[in-house]
Amino acid sequence: MEIIARDNLAPKIVRFVIKAPAIAAKAQPGHFVVVRVSETAERIPLTIADYDREQGTITLIVQEVGKSSAVINSLKVGDSFQDILGPLGTPYPIEKVGTVVGVAGGLGAAPLYPKVKALYEAGNRVIIILGAQREELLILREELAAVSHKLLVTTDDGSFGHKGLVTDVLRQVVEEEKVDEVIAIGPVPMMEACVNVTRERNIKTVVSLNAVMVDGTGMCGGCRVTVGGESKFCCVDGPAFDGLAVDFKELRQRQRYYSEQEKQAYEHHQHGREGCRCHAK
Ligand code: FES
Repeated sequence: MEIIARDNLAPKIVRFVIKAPAIAAKAQPGHFVVVRVSETAERIPLTIADYDREQGTITLIVQEVGKSSAVINSLKVGDSFQDILGPLGTPYPIEKVGTVVGVAGGLGAAPLYPKVKALYEAGNRVIIILGAQREELLILREELAAVSHKLLVTTDDGSFGHKGLVTDVLRQVVEEEKVDEVIAIGPVPMMEACVNVTRERNIKTVVSLNAVMVDGTGMCGGCRVTVGGESKFCCVDGPAFDGLAVDFKELRQRQRYYSEQEKQAYEHHQHGREGCRCHAK
């Protein structure tokens, strides 16, 4: 599982192209993998952001948010992952439905890309709303422009495109034209806000949930979410779900469970990386 290309898309966001022919042969939009850098490393779920069956490669995009992602992003071309398990999850259904609006917040552009690419190739009219805090954090702008009929960009600080939130633009788009489906991928509050806009018009809305995952195969229950009053596992039933039916309140609470441990592990790793001896015995 060798890394054959690597580039920095934005500060702390790295794109890796990895030789993984068996996974590339079966990958479809919506699939993800679980990677381990070493035998003792944490298992990290990552969306397959792109794949090339002929080259036998998959593309993963990693944002450094904690210890494990920091270790992954320090890998170089020629380095290998210990193992990559996948493709996992339920593929996203690709149909001709008419006009599809894809909304991506921050790193959400990575899982959105293969879905809108396939929907574009299937003959849908595709509008993309891409948002980030500031211009340098907008990723896959050119790639998304190439698989859409319209690309609308927003930044929180107004450094590029519309100043404000993706939901401002989404509201405008659904008021101006008939939208058949919305796919919203990004931080949980962003997806919930998108659903609040589309619910008013009863527009089918798909969200991709990044619940805490451990095994990635439906065994541990760590990624349980409630959709339409039923328990679902993100790793086998998702990660894409009907946004209008997701219990976002419960999802927000579950996401907070491990935030303190993750923060501590990351700080410990950063101290070690910067040569700090404060934890040395
Ligand atoms: S990650 Fe364990 S059940 Fe989904």
